[in-house]
Amino acid sequence: MRMVDLIEKKRDGHDLTTEEIQHIIKEYTNGQIPDYQMSALTMAIFFKGMDQRERADLTMAMVESGDQIDLSAIDGIKVDKHSTGGVGDTTTLVLGPLVAAVGVPVAKMSGRGLGHTGGTIDKLEAVKGFHVEIENDEFIRLVNENKVAVIGQSGNLTPADKSLYALRDVTATVNSIPLIASSIMSKKIAAGADAIVLDVKTGAGAFMKDLNDSEELARAMVSIGNNVGRNTMAVISDMSQPLGYMIGNALEVKEAIDTLKGEGPEDLTELCLTLGSFMVVLAKKASTPQEAREMLKKAMEDGSALETFKLFLSSQGGDASVVDHPENLPQAAYKFDLPAKEAGYVSEIIADEVGTAAMWLGAGRATKDSVIDLAVGLELKKKIGERVEEGESLVTIYANQEDVEEVKAKLYESILLSKDKVEAPPLIYKEITEG
Ligand code: URA
Ligand code: CA
Repeated sequence: MRMVDLIEKKRDGHDLTTEEIQHIIKEYTNGQIPDYQMSALTMAIFFKGMDQRERADLTMAMVESGDQIDLSAIDGIKVDKHSTGGVGDTTTLVLGPLVAAVGVPVAKMSGRGLGHTGGTIDKLEAVKGFHVEIENDEFIRLVNENKVAVIGQSGNLTPADKSLYALRDVTATVNSIPLIASSIMSKKIAAGADAIVLDVKTGAGAFMKDLNDSEELARAMVSIGNNVGRNTMAVISDMSQPLGYMIGNALEVKEAIDTLKGEGPEDLTELCLTLGSFMVVLAKKASTPQEAREMLKKAMEDGSALETFKLFLSSQGGDASVVDHPENLPQAAYKFDLPAKEAGYVSEIIADEVGTAAMWLGAGRATKDSVIDLAVGLELKKKIGERVEEGESLVTIYANQEDVEEVKAKLYESILLSKDKVEAPPLIYKEITEG
């Protein structure tokens, strides 16, 4: 097989066979196919696309390019959740203990990464003593016993995707549905998921800003999952404003605790119940999303979700007293309010920009070596559609610095007011349960 012939084949709009796709990914991972040829192929895919069979083949070839996590020692169907990324997205912290409380095993492998706030592990490390450096055997034992555990990323997962994603980034080929869908799905499958729930974000703060594109991506991923034997469902949810009120590590832990008690923000609670009920159905612990939702609501009301969270924290060395005493979480030295300059209705909260303001306070990493300040962040006091009077606080800023003028200026630019009444955007646009 000559790579130039395969590039030509795709350039002319033909399908690549399973063997051809396997060959390309294997040889590219080995360094036998140079970046310039792979670049040409990704550009051909960008323009000509891939059909469902090709997408499934590409996904599995990337899964097979590196290590695959074996979770077979864990009882039950392992369902993983993936979000395409947003600002102040506290769902993972809530969903782990919530679905575990109704018997769904959650074996989460998580990373740190760059971003406006830390990753799931950073957030959890706001709980004193909590650590994810555990042995594989211990991880499996904890999931079997408590139904939920988190371990740090290890092993060489999907090296083909790592190289390919970096290459796409510099060749203007990131934005291709078959390439994005196979990239995301390969990572979930390599991490051992039997079934997958996807939260595809849409709106200004999302990777996919347009609803139609978000839906196409969601459908593409659901099809791949179902074609390779991993039941997959997706939700398309709003990221035109941050989710919940809190943006910051310790602040989001507090918000997750409130939500597990059934006292969290309405949008975060609703999204967790929707995603969670899909997880419960895929794990075959309920036969319909409605039945699953009732189980999850009960777990919030009877305290079992909160108990599971405590057990999860203490099993991994964490100080579970934070659940009843959130004041034991890291606290910022200063609090500032952001008073509205005029009365009106909140019309936009540009999620990306608000996230950047949180990062400037130290809540996230600008480079991979940045050190996160777990205590700092933002608390939104108003969401889109809410009325605000002049001088009323739009945001509380939690800081460990006295001078927050730049952060304030950024927030004034990102939270827009209108004289006219504004409708709140819908939270969930679509649920996709079949590929
Ligand atoms: N996220 C991924 O993991 N891969 C893509 O290709 C795009 C977004
Ligand atoms: Ca939040």
